[in-house]
Amino acid sequence: TTIHVLNGPNLNLLGTREPEVYGRSTLADVETACQVACQRHGLSLVFGQTNHEGELVTLLQQARGSLGVVLNAAAYTHTSIAIADAIKAAGLNVVEVHLSNVFAREAFRHHSFISPVAHGVICGLGIEGYRLAIDALASSRAN
Ligand code: DQA
Repeated sequence: TTIHVLNGPNLNLLGTREPEVYGRSTLADVETACQVACQRHGLSLVFGQTNHEGELVTLLQQARGSLGVVLNAAAYTHTSIAIADAIKAAGLNVVEVHLSNVFAREAFRHHSFISPVAHGVICGLGIEGYRLAIDALASSRAN
């Protein structure tokens, strides 16, 4: 059983990118935390990041049949109908994650195209949000 953790644009710069907003952990730290959480639940992890919207669509299509997807679509959250459509098309169980509390930030971050097609949403808890999302998907497992 597999969980996909997918990250959108600029998250490859985590650790150096606006650390006062996003913290000092790197994307490699996020991957390690996700690996530990998945191992604890006996789940396999597919971890990815892309700066390209269409590539994120492809990665979501490839997650079809998985237990679920932890998705931080970054800025595409607020703009992408294609990503929302991919989630629906592939029938994915998505937990939307944001490191920052998007509701405490600019108004343009308050709307998400992902939330209406997500199972749940976690924001503002930093990299801890990824672990919580994995725990939630693991407890939704059928056995
Ligand atoms: C983000 C929040 C988005 O508004 C922003 O565009 C990002 C990161 C977060 O994790 O807090 O790139 O998804």
